[in-house]
Amino acid sequence: MSPSFPRPFAYEGARLLCSGSSLEALAAEHGTPLYVYSADAIRERAGMLQAGLADVPHTICYAVKANSALAIVQMLGEMGCGFDIVSGGELERVRRACPEALGRVVFSGVGKQVWELDAALEAGILLFNVEGEGELELLSSRAVALGKTARMALRVNPDVFAETHPYISTGLSDHKFGIAIAKAREVYRRAMTLPGLDPAGVSVHIGSQIRSTEPFATSVERVGQLVAELRADGMDIRYVDAGGGLGVEYGQVPWDPAASVQAYATAVTGAARGLGAHLLLEPGRFFVAQAGALLTRVLYVKQNGAKTFVITDAGMNDLIRPSLYQAHHEIWPVVRSGRSEQTVDIVGPVCESGDFFARDRAIERVGPGDLVAILDAGAYGMSLSSHYNTRVRPAEVMVDGDKARVIRRRETFEDLFAPEVV
Ligand code: LLP
Repeated sequence: MSPSFPRPFAYEGARLLCSGSSLEALAAEHGTPLYVYSADAIRERAGMLQAGLADVPHTICYAVKANSALAIVQMLGEMGCGFDIVSGGELERVRRACPEALGRVVFSGVGKQVWELDAALEAGILLFNVEGEGELELLSSRAVALGKTARMALRVNPDVFAETHPYISTGLSDHKFGIAIAKAREVYRRAMTLPGLDPAGVSVHIGSQIRSTEPFATSVERVGQLVAELRADGMDIRYVDAGGGLGVEYGQVPWDPAASVQAYATAVTGAARGLGAHLLLEPGRFFVAQAGALLTRVLYVKQNGAKTFVITDAGMNDLIRPSLYQAHHEIWPVVRSGRSEQTVDIVGPVCESGDFFARDRAIERVGPGDLVAILDAGAYGMSLSSHYNTRVRPAEVMVDGDKARVIRRRETFEDLFAPEVV
């Protein structure tokens, strides 16, 4: 098994390639920091999930927030995917990249505004995932005002522990998301009495980077019981939205994504099948995380006390996951030199001690000018990036077959300062 399994990044001799393209050449052509993605790897993951769900009526609604690149939205839209959006901005991305997919959009999020509800109503999206009673009233009144009917689900909170990082766990009763499942029947009854609403589904999303299938199965089972009660109340519930959350392996441990998808599909379809409902899923990370890497060049290596710091030209503003969630990302030299390993902290240039990619990591000795690849950065990398320290954001390149194309050029100072007024 290649050590890169199941990633599209693998060594050929001393050189690290992305689906056959030289990362060294891409860095030379496009500069660093640079996000590089493999189109094949994204397609492969989407295909795996589509295959795993083949025997149940379903729509896969890719969670745009994981990686919002128009090129990725377009690619997945062309594969038949729908989209999970959480803002009017993400709706606009779908409209620009793949307008024919607007009818396959589900709209989640705890703070939807009037203009966002209106835009989604006008776009004729598939489902509003309503997260509270205030939003329910507002959606009803906006639908009436625009002469539309809003197909909606309540996002219920099943009180399931997702066994993930506290910042990305969402399904417990003390989280801000959704409506407690015990209270949901009453709120659905209210929805039935409100004009402009079609209570058509039940939604759930319990968190992200979930590696065991049990929490998914438990939450869909709980949703199943609610669906039965709502149907008994006279509602025509046709959709079950099981949310996103399927995790990936960020370490060096051998891991088979196909087996993981199979187990996940069994867990969610098993519980949903008996309901005769159309299953919706909102995967983000699973499709894109391992398809992408952040290439960065070493600027300096310096010694402070007992520590050795490798300072790179990428910083926490480009990839915040290690700083924010203590997330582990593999960091590999782009050209293996055969030098011995050294235990170092790999850090960015941003003025925060929290600006690090790895701490006390043993990697092959690197020096100024060397390139390293921070792996598994395709999800929540670029989409969580910022301009902090007045740094322009990286360019993004997509490798597709034997071609590599820029899907987002590096920003310029003009881009950066355009909105400002002095
Ligand atoms: N649906 C909803 C309603 C969500 O809130 C999310 C993610 C997803 C779907 C997609 O979840 P996924 O399949 O990607 O796990 N920035 C964090 C992850 C935040 C997840 C937020 N919600 C990270 O880098 O780990």
